[in-house]
Amino acid sequence: MALATEGWTELEHLINQQVKDIEISGIRKFSNMVSQMDNLISLTIGQPDFPTPEHVKNAGIKAIEGNVTSYTHNAGTMELREAACQFVAEKYGLHYKPESEVIVTTGASEAIDIAFRTILSEGTEVILPGPIYPGYEPIIRMMGAIPVHVDIRHNQFRFTLEMIKPYITDKTRCIVLPYPSNPTGVSLTEEELREIAAYLKNRDIFVLADEIYSELTYDRPHKSIGRFLKEKTIVINGLSKSHSMTGWRIGFLFAVESITKHILKVHQYNVSCANSIAQKAAVEALTTGMDDALLMRKEYNTRREYVYERLQAMCLEAVNPEGAFYFFVKIPDSIPLNSFDFALDLVKASKVAVVPGSAFSKYGEGYFRLSFACSRETLELGLNRLEQYLQIGSK
Ligand SMILES: Cc1ncc(COP(=O)(O)O)c(C=O)c1O
Repeated sequence: MALATEGWTELEHLINQQVKDIEISGIRKFSNMVSQMDNLISLTIGQPDFPTPEHVKNAGIKAIEGNVTSYTHNAGTMELREAACQFVAEKYGLHYKPESEVIVTTGASEAIDIAFRTILSEGTEVILPGPIYPGYEPIIRMMGAIPVHVDIRHNQFRFTLEMIKPYITDKTRCIVLPYPSNPTGVSLTEEELREIAAYLKNRDIFVLADEIYSELTYDRPHKSIGRFLKEKTIVINGLSKSHSMTGWRIGFLFAVESITKHILKVHQYNVSCANSIAQKAAVEALTTGMDDALLMRKEYNTRREYVYERLQAMCLEAVNPEGAFYFFVKIPDSIPLNSFDFALDLVKASKVAVVPGSAFSKYGEGYFRLSFACSRETLELGLNRLEQYLQIGSK
């Protein structure tokens, strides 16, 4: 029997305005729009195309069978916190105490959320490079804080101290350093990070370093600003990209105790703890599977070289990514379309989907993101279609 709703008043007008103002991410919007198309080649994918390593999956199965199904410590099991601290110490020279300087989160997404909710208040400002992953801005806005994007398009997408300085005010609460970057693939060098760290040393500003792609770097090992500015940096990482574990939802947040003890309260009242079964699998990933990313990285690197050559042959302008698995490609001047219309025209005309640059802030306009987290066959087919589209020209 249908419920009688006649005369009922809906309450949408009472929804928090800051939430109402948020739109779903442009990446999802576009993917949802085209996902039902037949014979579509999608180069939009933002997650690894490999299965979770077998030994990690088995650790998850064993955890279920062994009844590892209860709440854990709010910050995560000590076993996992120890493994996570050991991992970042060995890989990146980051030193954090398992007892008090790390929180296991529900993916990097939750780590971003609880970090911002702890450090931001009404009217404070957050400086971010643009183009940028769209996961930060809505949370900043929900806090009544102000995202201040710096246009980095004209500097090969590098975010330098000189570009940051003019945007620092007495309201600046945080600078986001998301490297290696989604969508540009750029990663900052040790020198660039040291410069920023030295400048911030005596300033009351947090750094949020989202390093979720740290295991996927191609030209040189990953460097974290957490090494040079530990007391002010919140380092975010996780297993989604390194171990192809997006659905397991395990992330990490590292910071000094005077910061984590407050973030932990937000985490506790948000999710209590990360999934207990996934935490067991995560221990396996970070210990026995410490170098699981290497094989995947090798394959991504081969694809990266292939895509770069193909884009060059098409005379398309793109920075060769130093990390992650995306190319951020300039839409040729000869095509008079904004990035959304370009992506739509491309998908309609040639059945190949890419993400419009505008999904990555207004400073992504004029570009599209092409992911190489897909098989070589898919890549080849997708690039053939793109090439054909460019030869025929847009409608
Ligand atoms: C830069 C960046 N940060 C964070 C995330 C979210 O990671 P997770 O799936 O672990 O929440 C993503 C996912 O694509 C990302 O690209």
